[in-house]
This record gives sequence, structure tokens and C-alpha cells, in this order.
Amino acid sequence: MDIFVEPIPENELKPLFEDANNLAFGRIFTDRMFTMKYNAEKGWHDPKIEKYKSFSLDPAACVLHYSQEIFEGLKAYVSEDGRVLMFRPEQNVRRMNRSARRLCMPEIPEEDFLQAMKELVMVEKRWIPRAPGTSLYVRPTMLGTEAFLGVHPSAEYLFYIILSPVGPYFKAGFNPVSIYVEDTLVRAVVGGVGDIKTGGNYAASLKAGEKAQQKGFSQVLWLDAKEHKYVEEVGAMNIFFVYGSKLVTPPLSGSILPGITRASILELGPDMGLEVEERPITIDEVIEDINSGRITEVFGSGTAAVVSPVGLLHYKDKDYLINNNQVGEVTRAVYKRLVDIQYGKAEDKFGWVHELGRV
Ligand code: PLP
Ligand code: COI
Repeated sequence: MDIFVEPIPENELKPLFEDANNLAFGRIFTDRMFTMKYNAEKGWHDPKIEKYKSFSLDPAACVLHYSQEIFEGLKAYVSEDGRVLMFRPEQNVRRMNRSARRLCMPEIPEEDFLQAMKELVMVEKRWIPRAPGTSLYVRPTMLGTEAFLGVHPSAEYLFYIILSPVGPYFKAGFNPVSIYVEDTLVRAVVGGVGDIKTGGNYAASLKAGEKAQQKGFSQVLWLDAKEHKYVEEVGAMNIFFVYGSKLVTPPLSGSILPGITRASILELGPDMGLEVEERPITIDEVIEDINSGRITEVFGSGTAAVVSPVGLLHYKDKDYLINNNQVGEVTRAVYKRLVDIQYGKAEDKFGWVHELGRV
């Protein structure tokens, strides 16, 4: 694919963030974005790296009314020796195309999608922060843009990629977060769209998120929609329960997001001497096992959240403290192993890291 790169005069470039150690998540965007359009006649066309700017959309655009929208999230890193790296980007490409199929949107050829992300990241490499725990977050997005009010798939689409230099997703950094277990509202049902990355899932989660925030918790742990009994996932991450040297995580039931970090930890575990198990786990069992001390640690996994220790679950008006609200040994080891691979510090024996070039 030939990507047109629009030149931007030097004096129109934005000033870089001032303090890489204090980057919030997803507030700053780089100078450029990738865009590409689709229609039935031309297929995907007009791939461009252009100046980051607002779009103009018809007020009747399908995405604005019926939410025909999908997105992805992944990161680019700079290693200590100046290599620009991405972690398993082909997995995000595949997941986005799975999301596209579910919402009757056109798939993007894998090679073109990867090329677009890599070229954009390299053009914008001055924006990749280098402070510990920071990275350049990559957000590919696709929208149905055709203007109409009937309910059917759009015939026109916009695909774009934006970049944001980011620090830790949680204000707490690598410290335990407190999580609210939601037992009334639900995020997704089996057969619905909970297992793809579409904006509507996050809109559906806002009410519970607000409730959790008001009570002083940073995230929501979702239970299954039918019985409010089985643990599913957290707002922006999958969840792992540590039983000594065993990691237990709920299976991909059809209503949770198949996290790429989750899949990676399930492969890393055995390599680190940890047993791994995917099985349905009820909230009652979790509470009982926290109380008895069988659950020794809990952590969440995700691109934005990386590996986030969970220090407390709040369920039906009661607090359950995990590992005395301290970061546990297993959580720390999994975090370190994953991050060391992502930043090119540890051997990449699974072949997960793509090297894009040098800073
Ligand atoms: N679950 C939800 C709802 C998410 O938004 C995310 C973040 O992408 C995850 C899980 C973790 O997925 P991944 O590890 O692919 O980032
Ligand atoms: C991610 O981890 O990439 C996410 O999408 C989480 C959230 C910011 C929606």
C-alpha cells in the first residue's frame, strides 16, 4: 500500500509533553493521524498520514445513530538501546477484523493495517515517551459514515489511527486498585457484542463506573448477565485470581473481551513455573477463597492497565481485602516478565515483539 504522507511545516508542530513522568492516559495526541476511506465501489482507498484534525461528519452518519463503530488499543515502546517496538500488533489487527465481521463492517487487509500503524508510529517517533512505564498508545478506529436513518450497515467507512503518549492507566500507578463488584447492572450478554471492541460496550458500562467512582472505587468487576453469579472481567481489563502458584481466569464465555494481555499471560505462566487454568469462577467462590486465604493475589490485565494489582473487592456492601492491599510476589513477577518483553529487555522467546526501526 502506498501511503501519502502530508508534509507539516515545522512551525505547525505541537510542543512535546513537558514531563514524561507525569503523563495521564489519553489526553495528549500527536501531530499526525492515519486515515483511509472505504466505499463499495473503490474498497479501501486514499491511505494518508495527515495532520491530526477534527473530522466533518454528516449529522445523519450511521455511527452517530446506530453505533457502527469498532476500535483497538495497543502500544509502541522504545527499548533502552533505542529500538522502536510493538507488542503483538498482528493480534490487534485480527481482533479488529473479527469485530468488523460481527458489526457487518469491511475487514482491512492485515498487511495494510500493520503497515499503517508502523509507518505512523515511525513518522511520529519523537512522541514515544521514554520514562519508565510510559509508551505511545495506538488507537485504530473504524466508523460507518454513510448518511441515512434506516437501520442497515453503512456503505461507507472511515478508518483512522491516532496516537497518544501515555503513562499509567490508573492514577495509583503500579499499586493495588480497589474494585466494585456490580451485581445489578450488566455489561454484555452471550450472543451480543461483549466479546468485540465496540464503543457501545463502554457506553453501557458508564453507569456502573459512575456508581463505583462515587463509592470510591476505580473500576467495576462485571458478573455474568444471566445469573449475576460468574465473574467476567473488569471495565478495561481481564481478571486473574492467584492461588499460590496457580493463575485462574474466567474462560472466553462469549461476553468478555479476549484480551491479548490475558492470552500472553496464559502462555507466560507455565514458562515462569506457574500453573494456569481457565474456568468459570463464581463470585461466592472468590469471596470464600479470599476469606480463607486460598486466593493469595488478584490482578487485572490489559494493554492500558498492563498488569494491575487488585487490593480490594467490594461486594454487596462489604469490603474484602486481598493480600493486605499490598502488591503480591506473583503479580510483580508477571508484570516484570511481561513489561521486560514489551520494552525489549527480556528475551522474546515467543516472537511477540515487532521491531519497527530506531529512534
Ligand atoms: N477487557 C476490556 C473490556 C478491555 O477494554 C480491555 C482492553 O483492551 C481488555 C479486557 C484487555 O484486552 P487487551 O489485553 O487486549 O488490551
Ligand atoms: C486498552 O487497554 O487498550 C483499552 O481499550 C482500555 C480502555 C482505555 C478502553
